[in-house]
Amino acid sequence: MIIGSKYIRDIMSNLKINMNNFEEVKKSLNSKSLRVCVIGIGRIGLPTALSFAKSGLQTIGVDINEKLVEDINSKKFPLKDEPGYEDIFYDVLEKKLFSATTNIQNAVSNSDLILLSLPTPMDENNIPNYYALTTVGSQLSEILIPNSLVIVESTIEPGFIENEMISIISKSGRLKIEENFSIGVCPENANPGEILHDFTNLPRLVGGINQNITNIITMIYKYVFSVNLIEMKNCKTANAVKLTTNVFRDINIAFVSELALMFEKLGIDTMQVLEAAKAKYNFQVHYPGAGVGGPCLPINSYQLLNTARRTGTKLSIVESGRRINEAMPDHVIKLTLDAFKESQIPIEKSKILIMGISYKPNVKDIQLSPAKDVIKKFQNLGSIVHIYDPFFKSTKIFGINVEDNFENILPKMDAVVIVTGHDEFKQIEISSFTKIKSKILIDTRGVIDPNKIRNTNLIFRGLGRGKN
Ligand SMILES: NC(=O)c1ccc[n+]([C@@H]2O[C@H](COP(=O)([O-])OP(=O)(O)OC[C@H]3O[C@@H](n4cnc5c(N)ncnc54)[C@H](O)[C@@H]3O)[C@@H](O)[C@H]2O)c1
Repeated sequence: MIIGSKYIRDIMSNLKINMNNFEEVKKSLNSKSLRVCVIGIGRIGLPTALSFAKSGLQTIGVDINEKLVEDINSKKFPLKDEPGYEDIFYDVLEKKLFSATTNIQNAVSNSDLILLSLPTPMDENNIPNYYALTTVGSQLSEILIPNSLVIVESTIEPGFIENEMISIISKSGRLKIEENFSIGVCPENANPGEILHDFTNLPRLVGGINQNITNIITMIYKYVFSVNLIEMKNCKTANAVKLTTNVFRDINIAFVSELALMFEKLGIDTMQVLEAAKAKYNFQVHYPGAGVGGPCLPINSYQLLNTARRTGTKLSIVESGRRINEAMPDHVIKLTLDAFKESQIPIEKSKILIMGISYKPNVKDIQLSPAKDVIKKFQNLGSIVHIYDPFFKSTKIFGINVEDNFENILPKMDAVVIVTGHDEFKQIEISSFTKIKSKILIDTRGVIDPNKIRNTNLIFRGLGRGKN
């Protein structure tokens, strides 16, 4: 049981800043006496905690991952692909402004501001799973010191705070919303790999349980991040904006992917179409590819579809978008089979090198990556799949040992399939690919310029490009 004694809680609540009081919070920022607790210190939560610590505020990170906590406290930086944060990490550890713990009760009891950066994944049936948030909400119900402020940064459906989180935190009967605890949201919208840049440049959405809390959250985030804050009327509107922007991308990628399938048949180069279309002031470019993965877009579409189900609404365009994006790995297989047919070798027992397994370029992240699907489909066809990805060297992913060097292995490969458009791949000379044993090169991300293929003996298929 995680309940401390009432006596200790009462003392703590006397010591703490009243997070419902604008002037008190302002003073605590100026004197740097505001104490911050970030629960969930993963991809987003750790940089968030480091940013709060960098601003001079005492910050503690809480996580159930013991190894992560141990690594952080022994100065091992876990996010090597987040430029800028490694230096901040060492600096705030050195200044003793940041540490990590698995002990949520101690951390929460000694904090004024509680940020939740917990995962919001979905299950195998694509149903959003808010278990981490509801679990921590129940814990907060027992341990939150009165007059604290909880800010949910996780991506949630509109209405989740109002309909679920408040009642979960209130259920012990110790805490009453707007009386002795407050809540708001500041949905995170950074791109993995560019989090420092995004945290310090992109505007953030703020929604509080009332206008006073919205003002307080705005003040805190302005203090820490110096970015524009867009104040929304309430939590649900802020969460609706976050989902709208991401689902917009999921749908647009589906749109260009579907176009790419048709342009291939017409012999039209989709990349050329998109380059020209970009010139139109109101066209926002998205690119086709092997599918859409990552911790956000697919889940966010299913979150919105879940909201639609709950409210008896139909979001048919979101449904179609998902269907198209989820079918793109099949198209990668189709292109590859077509190339194998041309080369007159069977795909069974062939050796295929998958280049890039991250769900998007230049990040070390395979969450819901379409590469997993593509690999499985090749394996089902009897191919022996190898992997090269500069972000995953000397490790085993999807049960396959990742190659350390792609050039050495090319002469043993029948085909290379580029699944992620890492910048490193754009630097590779076409002459390197001509070393592929059976000369099959499939580009699903517009990395290879088809003009450069013309004078080679490569059997090339580019997604959305048509035959060369
Ligand atoms: N990664 C992104 O690109 C991104 C971008 C914007 C928003 N988001 C959103 O931010 C939220 C966090 O995502 P993330 O990518 O940082 O996830 P993550 O999986 O990298 O990190 C979440 C952390 O929470 C910890 N955790 C899980 N359950 C816990 C519990 N009960 N108590 C304490 N810690 C717990 C995990 O161990 C993990 O370290 C999600 O809602 C996500 O949708 C993510």
